[in-house]
Amino acid sequence: MKSMIVANWKMNGGLDWRTKPAEFMDYFENDQRHVECVICPPFHLIPALVDASRKTCVKIGAQNCYFETNGAFTGEISPQMLSEVGAKYVILGHSERRSLFHETDADIAKKALAAQEAGLHPIICVGESQGERENGDADEVVGAQIQSSVPKGLQHGQLSIAYEPVWAIGTGLTPTLEDIAAMHDHIRGELGKKFGELNAGKIHILYGGSVKPSIAKEILALEDVNGALIGGASLEMESFAAIANLA
Ligand code: PGA
Repeated sequence: MKSMIVANWKMNGGLDWRTKPAEFMDYFENDQRHVECVICPPFHLIPALVDASRKTCVKIGAQNCYFETNGAFTGEISPQMLSEVGAKYVILGHSERRSLFHETDADIAKKALAAQEAGLHPIICVGESQGERENGDADEVVGAQIQSSVPKGLQHGQLSIAYEPVWAIGTGLTPTLEDIAAMHDHIRGELGKKFGELNAGKIHILYGGSVKPSIAKEILALEDVNGALIGGASLEMESFAAIANLA
């Protein structure tokens, strides 16, 4: 399976960042047939980055969308609007959206279906909090998130999952390799309940949470890890490409 390396820029970047796809290509040495490279900037940069990435292997995605096509939803953006300006992917249900903006599994499920209808590839995020891991509830919490935020009606071929333990995001902490491997295996099993084992085997499961070039190789080598979702280390193209080179 082709690896997927996804940059989540969060609320960072200005118009001068349109040079980043070209800069990424200066550092990217891996075979692009083996790695899908995606940058998800804030909304205002999507058109400029789509334009700037035309002659590169970089694809552009968004960090969120609403589930309606248009209407009286002040401040929201529809998947059709993102598609119209050339976005190909959309991150959904990131833990910051779940905690700061109170998104529920049901919201995320609706968004994922709407995104696919508009031709976008949803990357649905799941992950447990520190307390949930300490209490031994991580498997149950993540399993429930998969069952409720990944609707059965999705096309499995146009869907990725990102496992991001909330306590590992932006903290420099990462789970042990054994814990990452075990959770990815668990997620694969949960997807199997929905889409069948064979189809579940084709869904990309990305790891996210403090991924840096220094630790990416071991994480990306794990059996059920099919790529990474990267925040902090994706803001500099040297480190983002260094991770893509290890995929
Ligand atoms: P981080 O963020 O790499 O800075 O931990 C990951 C994410 O929030 O997607």
